[in-house]
Amino acid sequence: MTTFTVVAHDGLEQVFSTEAGVSIMEIIRDGGVENFPAICGGCCSCATCHVYIDPASLKGAPSVSEDENELLDSAEHRRSTSRLSCQVLSEFLQDGARVELPPAD
Ligand code: FES
Repeated sequence: MTTFTVVAHDGLEQVFSTEAGVSIMEIIRDGGVENFPAICGGCCSCATCHVYIDPASLKGAPSVSEDENELLDSAEHRRSTSRLSCQVLSEFLQDGARVELPPAD
């Protein structure tokens, strides 16, 4: 089983399992993580599923698309490791990966 840890901005950590065909956003949202609205439900139009993931923890995942890049530009706390978690399937996460949530915009 592949697991990953979600680290909230306040340091709270929760461990989840990856699921084939399910986005990282869906797992975090359905896991009841606080302050993670994912308002658009995964249609790449809100940026409220913004997370930080070390690229080394995303083996084989598609790189940031043009649409994702434009939305990330609207996020207040963008970093080089920023991704929209609805755009990345959880199966690309390496075991033990850490997914950090940004401060609330
Ligand atoms: S949930 Fe809206 S962009 Fe990801």
